[in-house]
Amino acid sequence: MKFPDIKTTLPGPNAAALIGVDHNHVSPSYTRIYPLVAEKAEGLWIHDPDGNTFLDFTAGIAVCATGHCHPHVVKAIKEQANKLLHMSGTDFYYTSQITLAEKLAHLAPGDGSNKVYFGNSGAEAVEAAFKLARWYTKRELNLAFFGAFHGRTMGALSLTASKTIQKKHYHPLIPGITHIPYAYCYRCPYNMSYPECGIECVRWVEDTLFRTTVPPEEVAAIFVEPIQGEGGYIVPPPEFHRELQKIAKKYGILYVADEVQSGMGRTGKMFAMEHFGVVPDIMALAKGIASGMPLGAMVARSDIMVWEAGSHASTFGGNPVSCSAALATIELLEAELMENAKIRGEYLMTGLRELQKSIECMGDVRGKGLMVGVELVKDRHTKERATDWRNEVIQKAFQKGLLLLGCGENTIRFSPALTVTSEEIDVCLSIFEESLREVAG
Ligand SMILES: Cc1ncc(COP(=O)(O)O)c(C=O)c1O
Repeated sequence: MKFPDIKTTLPGPNAAALIGVDHNHVSPSYTRIYPLVAEKAEGLWIHDPDGNTFLDFTAGIAVCATGHCHPHVVKAIKEQANKLLHMSGTDFYYTSQITLAEKLAHLAPGDGSNKVYFGNSGAEAVEAAFKLARWYTKRELNLAFFGAFHGRTMGALSLTASKTIQKKHYHPLIPGITHIPYAYCYRCPYNMSYPECGIECVRWVEDTLFRTTVPPEEVAAIFVEPIQGEGGYIVPPPEFHRELQKIAKKYGILYVADEVQSGMGRTGKMFAMEHFGVVPDIMALAKGIASGMPLGAMVARSDIMVWEAGSHASTFGGNPVSCSAALATIELLEAELMENAKIRGEYLMTGLRELQKSIECMGDVRGKGLMVGVELVKDRHTKERATDWRNEVIQKAFQKGLLLLGCGENTIRFSPALTVTSEEIDVCLSIFEESLREVAG
């Protein structure tokens, strides 16, 4: 079995020197929580410039779906780079963008009559969805959720309600967005329990919000993550999306699924909305779509994507190399990785639930496929958030060579590449357990 190999104190001398330069010249707005300098990587293993080797359970924030530098993806990138690097897909035609659009249009839930807009990131995909929803409906209001993360451009940021630091000093943002509570059953915003609640969080939208403050016929879209990502890897109950979409349909409101983090096979299905039996009107994609090459895509039904030439575009969106990387990524996802995400995800959850039996601070273990979160609490009864323990566990794990990230206020996320093996999960679980026991006894 392969283990992380930490030869120096962290950061080692070479990493420390680079970090010193970084601090002088790179934006201080970035949120590095531990001093990892990635030099090269393959699969789930990252090497730093001091010869240390780490096991990566972050996949570069759920991006490197096929593992770092998968040979099939690298080959596709090299071949495309030798042929065509750029020709601005908003002004000209080229094969890889067209081929990928056709592929995504058919992969997306629904009857395949979809069209695709290409950008470079998740925020751009959401931004495009935001503009298309306005363009199509000619309505000005939108709903989004507390805890949601949709990106940081001004439009996407207006939909985001994750952390105030992300919004501080940026107001006024785009008006007309109302944030509503997500189906966070472990901490029900209505103090109810599932299933006796009757999905109150959905009923409240129609019974209270639409009666008192938000005229539904003026709402363009509901923006929702199928599984809330940055907000804490929160899985809503099975009927949540279906019931909410029913209300949306009743009032001609578009249902926009932000699949930027949950999409592209991560949850064991190509798109997480498939777990809920819902066909969204618009879908935002990025992160795992091209295994690390920058690409965002907004997929919408053809009868919705009817905006005129010139109404939205981007010079770099749908870069030929990124599109080729995406096509290679999708081939791997369809061949075996989506299935692997399902199987290994269950293995990881089972391992975590086993640990939960004897480790009190593991309040909630939840997820789908390889989108798995563990919420740490000081006390299982009061559910007091153990944010400090969560942060310490992540630091300890890093020192032992395991890369983890947090999400929400007190959750640890496990979002490894979809290539992860049972042995790699075993190593992750043993380091995680050791770190947890050191921190929370
Ligand atoms: C659900 C979701 N939407 C949008 C974004 C923004 O993506 P990007 O950072 O590529 O702009 C993220 C990033 O974490 C995300 O998780």
